[in-house]
Amino acid sequence: MKNNTHNFSAGPAIIPADVLEEVKNEFLNFNKIGSSIIEISHRDKIFVDIAEKAAASARRLLNVPDEYKIIFLQGGATLQFSMIPMNFATKLVPSYADIGSWSSKAMKEATKICEVKVCTSAKINNYTSIKDISDWSIASDSAYVHYCKNETIQGIRINSDPNFDVPSFVDMSSCIFSENLDISKYDFIYACAQKNFGAAGITLIIIKDDLLEKSNPALPNMLNYKSHFEQSSMLNTPNTFGWYLAGKIFDWYERLGGISEMEKLSIQKSSLLYNIIDSSDFYLNPVNPKQRSRCNVVFTIADEKLEKKFVDEADSEGLKYLKGHRSVGGMRASIYNAMKLSSVEALASFMEEFEKKYG
Ligand SMILES: Cc1ncc(COP(=O)(O)O)c(C=O)c1O
Repeated sequence: MKNNTHNFSAGPAIIPADVLEEVKNEFLNFNKIGSSIIEISHRDKIFVDIAEKAAASARRLLNVPDEYKIIFLQGGATLQFSMIPMNFATKLVPSYADIGSWSSKAMKEATKICEVKVCTSAKINNYTSIKDISDWSIASDSAYVHYCKNETIQGIRINSDPNFDVPSFVDMSSCIFSENLDISKYDFIYACAQKNFGAAGITLIIIKDDLLEKSNPALPNMLNYKSHFEQSSMLNTPNTFGWYLAGKIFDWYERLGGISEMEKLSIQKSSLLYNIIDSSDFYLNPVNPKQRSRCNVVFTIADEKLEKKFVDEADSEGLKYLKGHRSVGGMRASIYNAMKLSSVEALASFMEEFEKKYG
């Protein structure tokens, strides 16, 4: 905890204090080379070692099978909304699940590039409940199925791995590294860094080998996955600081016991808040209880007029950035891996006290 504050920001989000301390201590003179890590060439062996080590750690942490490649790109998760259809929707029509704001944005971007089919939509219930993944209407000739596993804004998640007959493309920006996954069930995973592995401006891609071969060769290199892979994600100057920081966070995960420990903590932290929400009619969460996000806990207050007071009073007690996304209102506590249990306990006590005072 820094300055007695608890940072519940949805992203860019909290970074482990130990990692920030490490970065601070070595920043001005990295490994006694006489300069910082952001002042040397990305082709220098010092940086290449850092980059390769980070990719290897991500592979180990997520148990990524050999037949998948790891690529680091720029352009955030949002660039993937266009790159995916540009590369893989050249012949067949892809299917998109409309299950929250980010899935929906990805789908809208794809419609600028190709025709899309909607395989399921939760829009009608305001993205509070999603049809079981096995009941989605996916045409057997779909180019791929795209969805977002954890909808950061609505606080709803897909709680199982896919089992489609066509390739699965999944945005895991706000849940990657927070739960065990069977990567072999996915064909393409992407995630921006600024929630669970560092600073904005670097995106992790996990792509199955056969897709690399299918990526559209007519595209400019910067938009083509195979070109990025062939140049070891250094087709141009990468975000060296973001890559270095990601490696530090992966090391931190490994020191703490890896993804299983993160998952346990994530369940413990989110349950604490959902138990308070469910224990009376004061706080409300509209999401199907089986599909509630473990990383972004959204809630409202039955007496809507109290919400501004809640956010303001919480802020003055050091519980920061609890205001819900501007498109949905209410409150949102983003409790990614770096968020300590003690910070969530501080929020839980505040919620109980607030209810006693105004309920
Ligand atoms: C699930 C999800 N997908 C995509 C994005 C967009 O990421 P970026 O701003 O890095 O493009 C976000 C950002 O919050 C997100 O939460």
